[in-house]
Amino acid sequence: MAWPALGPGRLLERCGNAAPRGMAVHDRTRLIGRLPHFNTRACLHALNDAVSILLCEKKMSSPDAEQVAPRFRHTSVLLEGAVDALVHDDQGIYLDGTFGRGGHSRVILERLSEQGQLLAMDRDPQAIAAASDINDPRFQITQREFAQLAEFAREQGVFGKLAGILLDVGVSSPQLDDPERGFSFMRDGPLDMRMDPTQGQSVAEFLARASEADIAYVFKTYGEERYAKRLARAVVTRRGEKPFTHTVDLADVLKVAHPAWEKGRHPATKAFQGLRIFVNSELEQLDSALDAALEALAPGGHLVVISFHSLEDRRVKRFIRHHVRGDTDLPRGVPIRDDQLNRRLEALGKGVRPSEQEVDANPRSRSAVMRAARKRM
Ligand SMILES: C[S@@+](CC[C@H](N)C(=O)[O-])C[C@H]1O[C@@H](n2cnc3c(N)ncnc32)[C@H](O)[C@@H]1O
Repeated sequence: MAWPALGPGRLLERCGNAAPRGMAVHDRTRLIGRLPHFNTRACLHALNDAVSILLCEKKMSSPDAEQVAPRFRHTSVLLEGAVDALVHDDQGIYLDGTFGRGGHSRVILERLSEQGQLLAMDRDPQAIAAASDINDPRFQITQREFAQLAEFAREQGVFGKLAGILLDVGVSSPQLDDPERGFSFMRDGPLDMRMDPTQGQSVAEFLARASEADIAYVFKTYGEERYAKRLARAVVTRRGEKPFTHTVDLADVLKVAHPAWEKGRHPATKAFQGLRIFVNSELEQLDSALDAALEALAPGGHLVVISFHSLEDRRVKRFIRHHVRGDTDLPRGVPIRDDQLNRRLEALGKGVRPSEQEVDANPRSRSAVMRAARKRM
């Protein structure tokens, strides 16, 4: 009898393996031996995918992986390139809206003269704590969302005077790697995912209360997950028996429910991304920060944004394009001078991606895109 076309999740379930994490992943033959009708090509493909995901999990949780990527450290992406694009006046006042572990901030400080200044922000209290080793009178940091950068600049008396603003958006490696922060589907921890754990709702709280439609919306809109409805149904069915409190528990439910695993990518990746973006309001934060940055910059000031997925990059690209073109929605044929178009930005080149060497050294940089623009005089 031919095995029906099953995704790897269902396949593992049929193997009586509802919790594949505990399985000896190297032992393919044991897995195959448990398949009663192991005789179709589709089954083989699905099995291959299943084994590749299990191997990937095993690699991530092995002590070797810890050595390759030391825990809770962040490798800055496009470090020199971003600072080159940002700093053009060594006496200027700059703002780093995403301090993280300060990789970019430290290089900016090196490029500034004694008259220069650097203001920094991060919403994560651990990032603020990490800044305590910078003892430099030119440097100042605040724990705040970057959507509030205009308020911060006003308080400091530098609104409209900033020579450059850097946003390296997304999450830092310490946030992803520390299981206690609840971002990781590989290392178990409380299901939180907030960059500032004192604000808003955690993922566990959201999943406990949200409707199936809302969960599906988050998976689809922010995670671009094709099987959003199916995964949301699985989440709601399971939470009826037991609430979700831990990351790996959720990842396992998503894994079993996902019908189409991709090689080398955990089937919970997109759903986790969606939840993270949602609970941190990442896209709304970015939109507000871009508008605020345009006002807070001095004429001639530089805006540099590094983003890590297409949802963010599309917004940055659209924002820059809109302000490069100016008010193009005037009726056709209306005579208008260029200076009446209210063009506020000049784009500086196209999106810049990390080099092959950088991606080899830091695989997390692979999806990064940097865009830069200058505010017109
Ligand atoms: C990619 S890391 C930045 C790394 C930093 N450039 C470095 O070299 O160490 C992103 C940082 O931005 C912070 N962040 C993300 N969204 C934020 C927001 N809306 N407001 C403030 N900080 C935010 C995160 O907490 C994280 O520390």
